[in-house]
Amino acid sequence: MRTMQVELGERSYPIIIKNGIINEVGSNLKEMGFSGRAAVVTNPLVERLYGKAVVGSLKAANFDTAVITVPDGEEFKTLKEVSAIYDRLINHRMERLSPVVALGGGVIGDMAGFAAATYQRGVPLVQVPTTLLSQVDSSVGGKTAVNHPAGKNLIGAFYQPKAVFIDPDTLKTLDERELRAGIAEVVKYGVIWDKEFFEFLEANAKALFKCGVELTHAIETSCRVKAEVVAKDETEKDLRAILNFGHTFGHAVEKAAGYGAFRHGEAVAIGMALAARLSVKLGLCEKGLYERVCVLLDALGLPVSLPDFPADALIAAMKHDKKVVGGAMRFVLLKRLGKVFLQDVKEADIRAFLSGKQG
Ligand SMILES: NC(=O)c1ccc[n+]([C@@H]2O[C@H](COP(=O)([O-])OP(=O)(O)OC[C@H]3O[C@@H](n4cnc5c(N)ncnc54)[C@H](O)[C@@H]3O)[C@@H](O)[C@H]2O)c1
Repeated sequence: MRTMQVELGERSYPIIIKNGIINEVGSNLKEMGFSGRAAVVTNPLVERLYGKAVVGSLKAANFDTAVITVPDGEEFKTLKEVSAIYDRLINHRMERLSPVVALGGGVIGDMAGFAAATYQRGVPLVQVPTTLLSQVDSSVGGKTAVNHPAGKNLIGAFYQPKAVFIDPDTLKTLDERELRAGIAEVVKYGVIWDKEFFEFLEANAKALFKCGVELTHAIETSCRVKAEVVAKDETEKDLRAILNFGHTFGHAVEKAAGYGAFRHGEAVAIGMALAARLSVKLGLCEKGLYERVCVLLDALGLPVSLPDFPADALIAAMKHDKKVVGGAMRFVLLKRLGKVFLQDVKEADIRAFLSGKQG
């Protein structure tokens, strides 16, 4: 078992990583001082796989537990579904101290998190992430959101959980493509923060897919990095933005390809390769570093080449991105392994770069 803390003063919370912890959610919550009612928000697929374990543990710890399912899929990450969650929370007479347990991937975590942040002005939220992406990224740091027809994650709140329980064993049922997509975010932490971790990933690229100790180490290190960054800049005033390495390009690729064509992590892998190449073009880092990032992503079976999209389509998509500030395009660029920084780049330079006019 590995426990670490997200240090945010009186809102600090533990991240507990342990095989089998999915069976101990109830006893852990009881130990933390919760009692009475609880609600588990999940989807039918995850409920079938892990509902019994989590609900059983809550009932064994004497929680009066409701299970709230929402349909599976990003297209259901909407206010309409959150409204249905409110109805169920009201029916179950959830009160200010009744925990909402988010059991599932990032979609469930974001929606249940937003519901918990807003129901009765905030009830305790507990994250039990079951995809790699949610274990290493979305369950930690308190970003909750739903989509709007005008854009992804447009409606949301910063709302930290009371605890994050990560069971690496749950990844054994995850589709390999989902696992791979999550690994892209793991690589990101090595690139932006931790050279040794990047080297560990290079040495263990194949082993990660066995869902054993190597992957557990990768989850622990990723959570440690994210916890450290969030503790220093909870609401993304400056430092936290480095977690967006590869994401401005990645979101543009996702949008230009049409949502669903790429998994988010796949688009981020292409985005990281592009951000590294842009860093080389701007003379900020060695070409060898860009190549090294690409070799690792490729060894992990992740894409690194930009599909043949017109630069205009990508620029238009980037302009809608929240990370574009005041017309200038803000990128997280690479200096060396473990060292990135934010820099505004002129639209004309990005256009030239994307159309391959810069060599
Ligand atoms: N809040 C944040 O900081 C943050 C960060 C990154 C991404 N996100 C959000 O996360 C979402 C993507 O999350 P995701 O990649 O986890 O996708 P997801 O939640 O859609 O899960 C992917 C699929 O895996 C299934 N699944 C979940 N756990 C499983 C398991 N253990 N075994 C088998 N199948 C399982 C899900 O039902 C789903 O079909 C996006 O909405 C994105 O905006 C949020």
